[in-house]
Amino acid sequence: MMARAIIVGFLLLIYCINNISASVIRNISTDKSALLAFKAQITNDPNEILSKNWTQQGTTVCSWIGVSRSTKHQRVVALNLKSLRLGGSVPKEIGNLSFLSFLEIGNNTFIGEIPNEVGFLKKLKYLSLQMNNLTGQIPQSLGFLPRLELLDLSENDLFGNVPLSIFNVSSLKLIDLGFNDLTGTLPNDMCSNLPLLQSLFMAHNHLVGELPSGLDKCTQLKYLSLSYNRFTGNLPRDMWNMSKLEDMFLGWNNLSEICMFLRKIFRIEMISCHAEASCGIWIERISVNHGRCLQLWYLVNGDLYKKETHGRSLR
Ligand SMILES: *[C@@H]1O[C@H](CO)[C@@H](O)[C@H](O)[C@H]1NC(C)=O
Ligand SMILES: *[C@@H]1O[C@H](CO)[C@@H](O)[C@H](O)[C@H]1NC(C)=O
Ligand SMILES: *[C@@H]1O[C@H](CO)[C@@H](O)[C@H](O)[C@H]1NC(C)=O
Ligand SMILES: *[C@@H]1O[C@H](CO)[C@@H](O)[C@H](O)[C@H]1NC(C)=O
Ligand SMILES: *[C@@H]1O[C@H](CO)[C@@H](O)[C@H](O)[C@H]1NC(C)=O
Ligand SMILES: *[C@@H]1O[C@H](CO)[C@@H](O)[C@H](O)[C@H]1NC(C)=O
Ligand SMILES: *[C@@H]1O[C@H](CO)[C@@H](O)[C@H](O)[C@H]1NC(C)=O
Ligand SMILES: *[C@@H]1O[C@H](CO)[C@@H](O)[C@H](O)[C@H]1NC(C)=O
Repeated sequence: MMARAIIVGFLLLIYCINNISASVIRNISTDKSALLAFKAQITNDPNEILSKNWTQQGTTVCSWIGVSRSTKHQRVVALNLKSLRLGGSVPKEIGNLSFLSFLEIGNNTFIGEIPNEVGFLKKLKYLSLQMNNLTGQIPQSLGFLPRLELLDLSENDLFGNVPLSIFNVSSLKLIDLGFNDLTGTLPNDMCSNLPLLQSLFMAHNHLVGELPSGLDKCTQLKYLSLSYNRFTGNLPRDMWNMSKLEDMFLGWNNLSEICMFLRKIFRIEMISCHAEASCGIWIERISVNHGRCLQLWYLVNGDLYKKETHGRSLR
């Protein structure tokens, strides 16, 4: 009881502090100190990108590599440091870049956790931290980014559950959490608030349980990849109604009924399902007009995987 009261008090305190800091007037000077805090945590910069270019002498941060500023508000709106071989951790001061709408630090060797403060960036539309060495859990706060369209945290070492708050961000068009160590299940109502979602990638994790039902509520979904997890059970019937779906990867799970499912889902095109003695079932998706084999799918012991055929003609 006592412990709970202390926790509630503590949370209230954090809430108040956040609200006070939210009322701080931020300007380009705040942005500069946030970027300098970012630079201070860089431990690896073999091409001397930040060490030589992000210098105090550069009077305005907008001449710094990777930094873009809006002329209207004179604030930093984009930070793009992709593929610069940078290593280090991401400081919590990143949350002070309150006009940031684009944050891309993919394909570097950032370590440590994703700071909660990234969730303060209310204007963020594009967040890519892919291909780094980030660890820890995905912060719940990323679900409080009301304009986020792209969330790419793939190819890191993130673990724990996928925070449910993320499925509340109705502006999202792409979610890529693939190639991490995420665990737990996906909620049945995960598509209730994702009307614009086109791509959902969560392959190569350790997700368990049945595939969520109600995926058809993601009416714009074109690409779905949940392969290399530990999903079990049948395919939910409502997936048969996902008319926009173009590519689906469900292989290397423990699912059943996939062949029947594919006949339904690609109903505008021919599907031929063949039983093969040695390797289970293979499935060809054939375009009707041109008689070309678009995709070849193998179903082995309930696992499905796809082999690209690059439009090779059949016979
Ligand atoms: C930013 O705001 C601080 C006070 O909050 C002020 O001292 C500083 O001059 C301002 N900088 C610019 C560039 O407006
Ligand atoms: C940093 O790089 C930009 C773009 O390449 C260049 O315009 C600027 O002069 C550089 N600044 C310094 C201090 O090297
Ligand atoms: C990652 O960055 C390295 C170094 O800059 C570059 O050579 C490589 O092509 C990049 N890979 C991808 C997939 O962007
Ligand atoms: C920047 O962020 C840090 C940590 O979130 C905070 O303590 C600090 O007061 C902020 N600085 C400014 C100038 O807003
Ligand atoms: C980062 O991850 C890559 C790929 O998993 C690995 O090869 C590399 O050793 C890691 N680097 C660090 C600094 O942890
Ligand atoms: C999603 O949003 C609704 C309404 O804003 C809120 O009641 C609910 O707690 C949110 N769910 C999560 C998991 O954040
Ligand atoms: C698919 O959609 C049709 C019409 O929109 C509806 O009648 C049917 O119940 C749906 N089927 C499933 C399995 O959701
Ligand atoms: C796959 O599922 C079947 C039936 O649901 C079960 O008997 C089998 O042990 C599962 N295999 C694995 C590798 O989980």
